[in-house]
Amino acid sequence: MKKLYQFEWHGISLNDIDAFSKSLPSKSFYNKFYEKLFEKYNGFYELDEDWLKYKNEVANCLNSHLKNKINVLSIGSGIGIVENTLTKLNPNLRITAIEPSENASRWVKDNPNIAVVNGYFPKCLKREFSFDFVYANSIDYVFNEQEYRDFLKSLVDCGVSEFLVISSANYNTWVSIKLFVKEILGAMGIINKQDNGQFWGYLRSKIEHIEAMQRSGFNDVKITKLGTDTIFIKGKI
Ligand SMILES: C[S@@+](CC[C@H](N)C(=O)[O-])C[C@H]1O[C@@H](n2cnc3c(N)ncnc32)[C@H](O)[C@@H]1O
Repeated sequence: MKKLYQFEWHGISLNDIDAFSKSLPSKSFYNKFYEKLFEKYNGFYELDEDWLKYKNEVANCLNSHLKNKINVLSIGSGIGIVENTLTKLNPNLRITAIEPSENASRWVKDNPNIAVVNGYFPKCLKREFSFDFVYANSIDYVFNEQEYRDFLKSLVDCGVSEFLVISSANYNTWVSIKLFVKEILGAMGIINKQDNGQFWGYLRSKIEHIEAMQRSGFNDVKITKLGTDTIFIKGKI
């Protein structure tokens, strides 16, 4: 696992949310970030074109995993862009979208196929729940090793027998070369070694994902790739 640092997100400097810190962003950090996002943009359509294209690709690929599943749970849905696209691709879908930040879902609140639940899995759900399909898109980076295992184990304990993680926080050969070059340039004084930006989370290798899944009880793990940076990790009991 490698630490991931970030300077900006959606064209908003993270330094404008809070001074860059070596602690992971808290819920209030994300809340403040989403407030700024909604000040700057009026709808999905105003966000960066390449980012929209990428999320559209993710939604299409995810849709192919859903097949005839109807009752879907998304954990950590953010502004709900992928969920919104999924309901356009399949108007029969009923998506429960869990997101800790209360203000993130503004652009999907009128979508009748999406029910946003604020909080953390599994506490924010009713004690007895059942979904045809459960996934988490781009939230794996927020968890350290123990938290990731605990999160995956909580799914198993709640009776989830198949779980899909979509991750773009990959520690692969290309990323390791980039980080190595950055370290060398820092050591040579060519770039500022301290100038890392906001600590954003963790990059994981495929092996680390597989190990975390298996140790939590998802014994059958399959990984597929989308483009250069994104992997779909599907775990089954
Ligand atoms: C990079 S965003 C991804 C949002 C969305 N899934 C997407 O792909 O656009 C990460 C989201 O994870 C949420 N998050 C942070 N900690 C979480 C946790 N423990 N469980 C679920 N979501 C979490 C944040 O509030 C944030 O909205």
